Amino acid sequence: MDGPPILVDHLLKKYGRLIAVKHLSFKAGEGEILGILGPNGAGKTTTLRAIAGALKPTMGRVLVYGMNSYKESSRVKRIIGVMPEVPSLFPELTVRENLEFLGKVYGLSRLEARKAAEQTIDLMGLTDYVEVRYGHLSKGLKRRADMSGALVHDPRIIVLDEPTAGLDVFSASRLRSIIRELMKTGKTIIISSHYIDEIMELSKRVVILYKGTKVYEGEPRRLRDILDLGKRVKVVFDRELDESFWSALKDKISSYIDDTLLFTGDYLEVYTKDPLHLLDVLKESLEGNGYSIVDIDILPPSWEDVFKRYMIEARDPTGFTFKSEGKPCSCGAG
Ligand SMILES: Nc1ncnc2c1ncn2[C@@H]1O[C@H](COP(=O)(O)OP(=O)(O)OP(=O)(O)O)[C@@H](O)[C@H]1O
Ligand SMILES: [Mg+2]
Repeated sequence: MDGPPILVDHLLKKYGRLIAVKHLSFKAGEGEILGILGPNGAGKTTTLRAIAGALKPTMGRVLVYGMNSYKESSRVKRIIGVMPEVPSLFPELTVRENLEFLGKVYGLSRLEARKAAEQTIDLMGLTDYVEVRYGHLSKGLKRRADMSGALVHDPRIIVLDEPTAGLDVFSASRLRSIIRELMKTGKTIIISSHYIDEIMELSKRVVILYKGTKVYEGEPRRLRDILDLGKRVKVVFDRELDESFWSALKDKISSYIDDTLLFTGDYLEVYTKDPLHLLDVLKESLEGNGYSIVDIDILPPSWEDVFKRYMIEARDPTGFTFKSEGKPCSCGAG
């Protein structure tokens, strides 16, 4: 086993005439948590399936510790645990039976598989459901069982495709804390998700895909710095502003505002590069007209706004695009 845990090397995948992934290259180092982001159809699942050896690349290759993930898939499967995008265990088998079966598929003996299933069930808090058929589990429990399926053979690499999609906040947060625990064990984890906050919080590095092309690779924080959206300022007034006053006030503060996110009469939320001057002008005008400010929040840009803005830039062929560590490049979204 020679080479980094994951090396995606000029991966190209076509489905008929559709190019799902275009000459994609990136690496994941030992113990690294790498996030894969991108809108629907960007090629995230295709990439993850290629990494897991479940898909024959049209061109290029994926190497897992130097082994070709497709050509040597039976060896690679033993060191990769995959939680697919959709519920994936056998509905007629119980949680225990599913996990023991998977353990054996991944090369464990019957006894080892039984022990591994028990340990995983414990870790995932599924003890009360071991004898329940997978098909009868709730959505949240199914996803927990799916994740157990990825972990049962104690793999060095874990691939999670949308692990928390469709889950309620409690189930999602439970899965996230399990992922955080896994991160401490030194495993290499690749995770895709539409929940931008989740992926930015969990991942040290992210790869952003758009129409099968990599449009960013680097630290999440760096992405926020490059875009320089300014600060998100939220102001609550003591009561609804009079319409004509708001209209005059808007003109006065417009030069400090990059983007107005919401105005509801007594609440204003904007992006600004100059929050202090904006607040000075606001305060002075409001107080001069008998209004007051009752609450102020100055926050960094939300990850969702950073991502949306980045995708708009990436879609524009004349706009900037970035590659490794956020340096401008010509790796356009195509
Ligand atoms: N088996 C397939 N046959 C034909 N086209 C496919 C197949 N799998 C994926 N595609 C197409 O390839 C493109 C990339 O799909 P993929 O599932 O990798 O995207 P994704 O980023 O995971 O999207 P989502 O966020 O919706 O899960 C899409 O246009 C999709 O329709
Ligand atoms: Mg997908």
